[in-house]
Amino acid sequence: MHVADLERDTDPWTLAGSPLAPEVGPRPRIELALHTALTAPSPGNAQPWRWFAGGELIELYRDPARACSRCDPAGQATVLACGAALGALRVALRALGLDEQTALLPGGHPDLLARVAVGGRASPLPEEQWLYQAAPKRRTYRGVMAQGPLSRALSRRLGAMVDGTGAELHVVEDMARKQAIGAAVEAAIAGELPAAAAARVAAGEPGVSFEAPDGAQARGPAIADGAPAFVVVSTADDDPAEWLRAGQALMRVLLRARVDHAWGSFLHLPLTDAAGRKRLANLVGGTGHAQALVRLGGGADSPPTPRRPLSEVLLAQRPG
Ligand SMILES: Cc1cc2nc3c(=O)[nH]c(=O)nc-3n(C[C@H](O)[C@H](O)[C@H](O)COP(=O)(O)O)c2cc1C
Repeated sequence: MHVADLERDTDPWTLAGSPLAPEVGPRPRIELALHTALTAPSPGNAQPWRWFAGGELIELYRDPARACSRCDPAGQATVLACGAALGALRVALRALGLDEQTALLPGGHPDLLARVAVGGRASPLPEEQWLYQAAPKRRTYRGVMAQGPLSRALSRRLGAMVDGTGAELHVVEDMARKQAIGAAVEAAIAGELPAAAAARVAAGEPGVSFEAPDGAQARGPAIADGAPAFVVVSTADDDPAEWLRAGQALMRVLLRARVDHAWGSFLHLPLTDAAGRKRLANLVGGTGHAQALVRLGGGADSPPTPRRPLSEVLLAQRPG
């Protein structure tokens, strides 16, 4: 059996971000990039993706069986998570020295989200290697964050993470705007219909977005107090192509945060519907639609949340 076949059953966390010897050919590089993509975050850790890899083409499919129609009616969070996995894949391909061209929603199958054509060898930039190496260290951190602003270096570098992705980034550190965001999160928690809340919990998404110092779920003013910074990823329009763009941008932001020893956690409830996405963009002074809201700051390591191995998500052939 080929080494890559054995590795397909290996925990993606143990392979993600690893180096490869210069003489190794493109196929093991592509497989390693796929393992790295599997460490992306997803709502309730649903991992709503399937992959097809043939020759030097990689295709990303949404897995509708792993979407929560009740808690994510338009499928925005599912596609955003697939976009995050695509972002991790592309970072990994480049860090492993492979050039790529990616088409979003190329058509031909309703669940086909992206087609990545891997090209020749390319020399990675140091930053691409740092982001790749950060992949196995990323976690959603729901504990109490160290108080104080983000490091100046991180605040400066985050903006560059969305360059060329088609998404916009808003880093919010001033208390008045953090309080406005915290109020929007609180309103979404308080207004969640019991049936939607039950579906979310059943889908594995914890009610706790993050903990306040007293150990309870942060509510009310504690939401802004517990966030050294909020980061909002927004897009001009609000459709699946934009969700994929935002997901890729978000993944790069979360990886960059880890390079600079910061952690992130999600507050997605206010973004469940189109009106909420518009409202949050307005709150941060954007004209478009907010697609992701995360809290960034200092935290501590914890064990990774389990992932399905590549053998479970790699399709033997394209879906019919
Ligand atoms: C689109 C999206 C929405 C999410 N929403 C929430 C949320 O509202 N609350 C929360 O605590 N975690 C949320 N998460 C984080 C997931 O629960 C987390 O990614 C998953 O459990 C895997 O854990 P990991 O990120 O540590 O690998 C969200 C993740 C994504 C991608």
